[in-house]
Amino acid sequence: MARFSRPKGTQDILPEDQRYWEHLLNVVGSTARDYGFERIDTPAFESTELFARGVGSGTDIVEKEMYSFKDKGNRDMSLRPEFTAGVIRAYLENGMQVWPKPVKLYSTGPAFRYEAPQAGRYRQFHQFNAEVIGVPGPLADLEIMLLAWDIYDRLGFKNLAFQLNSTGCPVCRPTYIKTLQTHYHEHIDIICDDCRRRIDQNPLRVLDCKKGQCQPVIAAAPKTTEMLCDECDAHFSELKGYLDALERPYTLNHRLVRGLDYYTKTVFEVWAEGIGAQSAVCGGGRYDGLAELLGGPRTPGVGFAAGMERAVLVMKEQNVDVPELPVPPVFVVYLGETARTYAVKLLTEIRALGVGARIAMRGGLRSQLKQANRRASKLVILLGEDELSRGEVTLRDMETGEQSMVPTTAIASVLQERLGA
Ligand code: HAM
Repeated sequence: MARFSRPKGTQDILPEDQRYWEHLLNVVGSTARDYGFERIDTPAFESTELFARGVGSGTDIVEKEMYSFKDKGNRDMSLRPEFTAGVIRAYLENGMQVWPKPVKLYSTGPAFRYEAPQAGRYRQFHQFNAEVIGVPGPLADLEIMLLAWDIYDRLGFKNLAFQLNSTGCPVCRPTYIKTLQTHYHEHIDIICDDCRRRIDQNPLRVLDCKKGQCQPVIAAAPKTTEMLCDECDAHFSELKGYLDALERPYTLNHRLVRGLDYYTKTVFEVWAEGIGAQSAVCGGGRYDGLAELLGGPRTPGVGFAAGMERAVLVMKEQNVDVPELPVPPVFVVYLGETARTYAVKLLTEIRALGVGARIAMRGGLRSQLKQANRRASKLVILLGEDELSRGEVTLRDMETGEQSMVPTTAIASVLQERLGA
């Protein structure tokens, strides 16, 4: 018989890891709500055209990494490689343009990219994502950056730092790109083959190249921030002013261009200790032209997304204190068939009180107690036929080892007293 394995680049998240995920989701949800964000869930697949237009048909994500397919109605669909395009599609489609601005939305869920898997990089991964829509000024950028920061801070991550850049807008970017292309053509003999191709196809991405031979050319390349138009420059200065006032450390990184085409003005990443200097735990930026690209009215927006697998890796690496998931406090064991039937009735009565309870489903007393011990419940109720005939059960406190006889009629009140239920 063939044995199956999970697809390359995917993960089984096993029960012992779930506490990390639950904690992360709780911190993301509570921080986002404290900031006034509302949750939105969009489909895990959308029309391929949405991502081609939104993320950009020349990007690695759209060109090489999408899980695309024809559905049975012959429509071109893709599993979402990111959330922003879908969230803006939903914003436009559901008439949120008329809501008071800003509209602040957050989401969590799976995303899919056909990438070369490695530590912290998967083909199915999970993101938490947040967007502030409808406000052009840098206070919205700040809000997004502070939310990302505070989520990691509340998780207990150490040594957080922003990487920050501005990639300009359709007014100033074309001049910058021309200057960058001229610089690269002057060094055409030195740079790698990929960069030679990128100069014309996707010029900003040359700044992202990791090859040794390209590093001196990148270091000497003109910087976007030196060529911003007045509006982009003022926007960037105001944002930096807020970050300075709040004493949030940031590094100006003129190589930070990010791999999605929709960005305008601010781009940023958060780097944290734990998964190597080059790995961002999250990234985002402003996308003032995206809604228009998707057929809507001009709508400014700014957001970020973060890989949850990476966050879990850092939580483990940095020994972040993560609460254990609760175990049902009561475990019911029994001796003999009559007691078993009574045990099932008792189990449902305890659950009806709102108290979590499990029952042994097989084996003699010793094996039943073993099952109770794997995830230790606070109380074990033992039903023996003799005791039942006297109208009693044995209650054992697994934390103190103390054991007592309890009349069956008093179980509800004893549980309430012991568990505060
Ligand atoms: P992104 O930089 O492509 O941005 O992804 C954001 C984060 O998702 C990354 O920093 C990383 O933590 C995680 N990530 C990306 N790819 C993978 C992967 N293959 N495996 C594991 N984690 C991964 C976006 O997705 C934009 N939509 C962010 C945004 C929202 N910009 C504005 N609004």
